[in-house]
Amino acid sequence: MTTPQKDVFTYADYQAAADFIRGKTEHQPEIGLILGSGLSPLADELEAADAIPYQEIPNFPHSGVVGHAGRLVIGRLAGHTLITMQGRSHFYEGYSQQQITFPVRVMQLLGVKTLIVTNAAGGINTGFRAGDLMLIVDHLNFVGISGSNPLRGPNLAEFGDRFPSMAQPYSLTLGGLARQAAHEVGLTLQEGVYAYVAGPSFETPAEIRFLSAIGADAVGMSTVPEVIVANHCGLEVMGLSTITNVTIRELQSGLETSHEEVLETGKKIVPQLIQLLKEILKKIE
Ligand code: HPA
Repeated sequence: MTTPQKDVFTYADYQAAADFIRGKTEHQPEIGLILGSGLSPLADELEAADAIPYQEIPNFPHSGVVGHAGRLVIGRLAGHTLITMQGRSHFYEGYSQQQITFPVRVMQLLGVKTLIVTNAAGGINTGFRAGDLMLIVDHLNFVGISGSNPLRGPNLAEFGDRFPSMAQPYSLTLGGLARQAAHEVGLTLQEGVYAYVAGPSFETPAEIRFLSAIGADAVGMSTVPEVIVANHCGLEVMGLSTITNVTIRELQSGLETSHEEVLETGKKIVPQLIQLLKEILKKIE
């Protein structure tokens, strides 16, 4: 991993990245799409695409995790111009929350109004099965509640308020479109609360029972920092989790969660996720 030098950014740092990207593509993206573990193939669906490796972009964090390619893909899909992150960086890799969320503000500067975030998550709700898709309706920000919020530090007023509301972090309108789209293509779309944990170790059974007791339906190691920063800078957000595994609630179960399982199941869900996303995109004005 090459760690970018900076982990606190000025407005000019975001502008420099946005300017660089503008110089590499004619496209003017309106929708941002962040792809989670195993979901990178989705970016290959984009037409007339320009791809920019993260390491070329000033200040952009780049990930070294297997299953996370590191490039921006900008192109057309279902009547929209998208800027897609093929792979994201994570807190567990050693990046700060500010580094993780750097791309979201760059997207906003490029003219993005809507952010769609995807991830791989462990199912906590006992009604969920590996291979399910879940619309994220709310989140529990464990890492943030305990002090590591991406908005910690000087507030950049160009992007938003010091104390932004998180009363409705996921757009009701977009959630409605997702439900409608799932119904129309005949996919079951679960719904629930996503708990953000730091990782990289998976949860113990006691931790899973705790998360379950406080209302989490799924758990994962990403997404929430990006969603907070997106809300801060006025983007409309939709979140979709692929339930890549069901979490383990009891000791001595003989079961184990592995990154391989997460990637394998993620790969299998990709076609459904692509189908659902295209249908949702068609419905976005
Ligand atoms: N726990 C945390 N993160 C995850 C999981 C999990 O079970 N599955 C995929 N990402």
